Amino acid sequence: MNIWDNLPTPFFVLAPMDDVTDTVFRRVVASCAPPDLYFTEFVNVEALQSPGRDKTLPRLKFTPKEKPLIAQIWGLNPENFYKAAQDMVEMGFDGIDLNFGCPDKNVVRNGTCSAFILPENRERALEIIQATREGASSLPVSVKTRLGYTGPDLSWHELLLKQKLNALSIHGRTKVQMSKVPADWDRIGEISKLRDDVSPATKIIGNGDVLTRQQGQELARKHGVDGIMIGRGIFNDPFVFAADSPWQSWSRQQKIGLYKKHVELFAATWTNNERAIRTLNKFCKVYINGFDGAKELREQLMQASTTDDLVTILTAA
Ligand SMILES: Cc1cc2nc3c(=O)[nH]c(=O)nc-3n(C[C@H](O)[C@H](O)[C@H](O)COP(=O)(O)O)c2cc1C
Repeated sequence: MNIWDNLPTPFFVLAPMDDVTDTVFRRVVASCAPPDLYFTEFVNVEALQSPGRDKTLPRLKFTPKEKPLIAQIWGLNPENFYKAAQDMVEMGFDGIDLNFGCPDKNVVRNGTCSAFILPENRERALEIIQATREGASSLPVSVKTRLGYTGPDLSWHELLLKQKLNALSIHGRTKVQMSKVPADWDRIGEISKLRDDVSPATKIIGNGDVLTRQQGQELARKHGVDGIMIGRGIFNDPFVFAADSPWQSWSRQQKIGLYKKHVELFAATWTNNERAIRTLNKFCKVYINGFDGAKELREQLMQASTTDDLVTILTAA
């Protein structure tokens, strides 16, 4: 079964976010209001083939609660994509997504991720799609990218659509725009129309600045996309995928309880320091927010250096 053909319309996806959407946070989101589909953080295929493979594998950890789940990979060497795709089949992922959108200067300098949008790198991008497909056997292969490099460039999306991908996620900004301007949903709509002509079976997922499920439904209808991907919106509301989010009316104790649950899951999952405790700080801001004394409690929590200390503070709060 191909997961992309078995989703509601529109479907909702939790965006891949480095140091955020690991197995722990995906389980927290699943317990609040699950999306229709999850992505892992991006995982480097070169690292998977290096002696440091064991350091990278925790990024691919998951439990049955976070399904269906797509593994997102990035890198430069097609052979390593082939081998990574074989790994993903063995690990039980529901699909493989290629990161052709990250604008980080270090990855772009190496000619990967959003650098594939540049015409001189497109041939390599096609080789990577081909190699991944060969390794993936029957697993679907998708791409996540941006509107263009310096400006919107639909010749890039046309080329990708010609590869008959199972899905194409579009973050509605260019590489140089990073995240500094509002997402351009009209352009995302143009890519949906292009899809109708070039590859009608490819699912189009719109991404950028969606803060509520209702807003996502409206954008999907207006711009003709099949799915809506939400990233930072989850920081505003852990129940962002709910039809009727209760978050605004949640009490101080409920919010503290949810953070405590997150910290306990973190402690039970990362027993060998696979994740730095500082990665919890951005979640602290999500849960410990919107009630009297939240700022003072956050300051106290951010100084804790062990998960035991965090749990003690949260239990006493
Ligand atoms: C902290 C953070 C980490 C991210 N990591 C990834 C990643 O690993 N892979 C990826 O394709 N995009 C990554 N992104 C981009 C998001 O998936 C998404 O495209 C972007 O945040 C725009 O969507 P939003 O407005 O809903 O947040 C990241 C974004 C943030 C804020």
